Amino acid sequence: MSPTPPYDIDAWRNKIPLLRTTIPMNNCSHAPLLDGVREAAERYTASWNQDGMDWDAWVGEVEAARRSFAGLINADPEDVAVCASVSQAVASIAGALDYGGSRHTVVASMAEFPSVGHVWLAHQKLGAQLRWVAVVDGEVPLDGYRSAVDDDTLIVSACHGYYQTGFKQDLDAIVEIARAKGALLFVDAYQTMGTLPIDVTALDVDFLASGNLKYLMGAPGIAFLYVKREIADRLEPTLTGWFGRKNPFAFTVDALDWADGARRFDMGTPPIASAYVARAGMDAIAEVGPAAIQEWTQVLSGRLIEGGRERGLELLGPDDPKRKTPSNAFRSPGDSHRAEALMRERGVLASARGPALRLAPHFYSTLDDVDAALDALAEVFSVLASE
Ligand SMILES: Cc1ncc(COP(=O)(O)O)c(C=O)c1O
Repeated sequence: MSPTPPYDIDAWRNKIPLLRTTIPMNNCSHAPLLDGVREAAERYTASWNQDGMDWDAWVGEVEAARRSFAGLINADPEDVAVCASVSQAVASIAGALDYGGSRHTVVASMAEFPSVGHVWLAHQKLGAQLRWVAVVDGEVPLDGYRSAVDDDTLIVSACHGYYQTGFKQDLDAIVEIARAKGALLFVDAYQTMGTLPIDVTALDVDFLASGNLKYLMGAPGIAFLYVKREIADRLEPTLTGWFGRKNPFAFTVDALDWADGARRFDMGTPPIASAYVARAGMDAIAEVGPAAIQEWTQVLSGRLIEGGRERGLELLGPDDPKRKTPSNAFRSPGDSHRAEALMRERGVLASARGPALRLAPHFYSTLDDVDAALDALAEVFSVLASE
């Protein structure tokens, strides 16, 4: 008997109109639109249209989104900041750190999303020194962290999932390596949030950020940053704004009081429209259940890996679904962006990155979707190989 997910997948599929015409396999890049998410966006425009301005309700929606994110990572909402992007979240952390002491090194893996590396590099002018951990065969061996993290390490910057190959880092092991040397740890969970349970309290990370438009089923314009309470209370971000104050509505221009906890990382007028959308996406993920999603996406990844092998496709990175995000990267014999376009012509949304085309299913994907996507991919790659 064919495996099935531990939830009513057909009911969820009915809430994604795109599935009637297309097979979305690009969740590592952008999620398809759920009815509930579209309705949330419409609630914002309806409120804007009818009331002209309703700050209380709008800010309330941002707070609700903050709570939804906190719920997904087992954090207190007061330990979550609302940002505009992961790049901004990292810049907020980087600008709040002091590179002038004996700890001035940032250890970052070469698997970080470029933006994250760029933020750390930009802080070299404030004294930050970068030490890179290598990617080997699409993975980041832990020994790289063991030799890079030292007594001079201020912070370790580690993605949970590698956007290129889908390799999932062992966060428990990285926490242990960072802790052993007294370093802070920032985790970029953008490629994993929405695909598995994450518990920042159990993990004991210091910072964790994610945006919403990938596996969290949302849209651009918003991201969230968890900051551990005792660390937040001693940091003063240089990237700040009136929503980072104790009382933003005090309108005191010549005083800088820091809001408690992660709220001091909030900035200007919050991303209200995106908050409506983000909350609906995150609440859908919470309803399906991250543990159930993990179980099902591992089945789908297993089929992708095995089916890719049967069709002679070269997988980049690990071939064990348990060590991966749901993203599976196959080496393209030609321009991967052209492969993406040819896949779209065949009704499959894939996502090109560097030398690979990524197929990234999610909770609503079926085994038939996977088989059809693989058939299309094999055909597209043979077209490219023959050119
Ligand atoms: C792991 C990871 N981090 C960060 C980003 C970029 O985030 P943002 O555009 O919100 O700065 C991406 C986008 O693809 C990503 O995959």
